[in-house]
Amino acid sequence: MRKLAKAVVLISGGGSNLQAFIDQIDANELSLDIALVISNVPSAYGLKRAQKAGIESSVIDHKEFKDRLSFDNALKAQIDTVNPDVIILAGFMRILTQEFVDSYPLKIVNIHPSLLPKFTGTNTHSRAIEAREEWHGASIHFVIPELDAGPVILQGRLRIQDDDTPESLQQRVHKIEHKLYPTAIGWLADERLSVVNDRVLLDGEISVKQLQTFDL
Ligand code: GRF
Repeated sequence: MRKLAKAVVLISGGGSNLQAFIDQIDANELSLDIALVISNVPSAYGLKRAQKAGIESSVIDHKEFKDRLSFDNALKAQIDTVNPDVIILAGFMRILTQEFVDSYPLKIVNIHPSLLPKFTGTNTHSRAIEAREEWHGASIHFVIPELDAGPVILQGRLRIQDDDTPESLQQRVHKIEHKLYPTAIGWLADERLSVVNDRVLLDGEISVKQLQTFDL
C-alpha cells in the first residue's frame, strides 16, 4: 500500500476549506495526513479548527518580518520540518515569492474564488456581479509565481442569480469550494495528476470533470 500523503495547510482566516478537508478525512472520503496547519494571522479561526481536530498548528506572523523573502524563508523552514507531499493554500492571503514557489514544484495548490483566468485578485464576487457575468465559481490550481495563475486542476461554476449579492454569491461558491477542493487534493495525494504543456491531466488524460456545473 502506498504511504499516506502528508500535507501542510496554510491559512489566514476562517478555515472553512480546512474544515472540509478535516471532515472528509474523518469520513474516510479523503486519504490525507494533515501534518501541520500554519497561519500568518494569529487570530485566524482556522487555528481553532485545527486544534479541535488534534492537528498541530503554528503562527508565523508576517508583520514580524522585514520583507516578503524573510517571511517566506521562515515559512519554508517550518514546512520543511514535516517534509510534506503537498502544500495546500486554503484562504492564505499572502503573495509568495518566486524563491518559495520554486522550492516546491507541482506541490503547492491554491483555491481562488473565480473562474480563472477571470477575476484574479480580491473582491471577485462583487466584480463578477458588476460585470454581469452569467457564471461564477471557484478554481483550484497549481501555484506558480504569478498571482492566481498556474495550471487549473478543477473548476466549479454556478449561475449568478438576478438577486445575488456579493455575500450570497460567496456563500454558494463556498459550497462548491468545500466539495471540489478535497477532490482535487485527493487526486494529487493519490499521484493521479500530471502537467503537460501547462494543462493538468488526470490519469494521463484531459479530464472531462475539469469544469463542473452546480445547481446551487
Ligand atoms: C475562499 O473563498 C478561497 O477561495 C479564498 O479564500 C477563502 C477562504 O475561505 N482563497 P476559508 O478560510 O477556507 O473559509
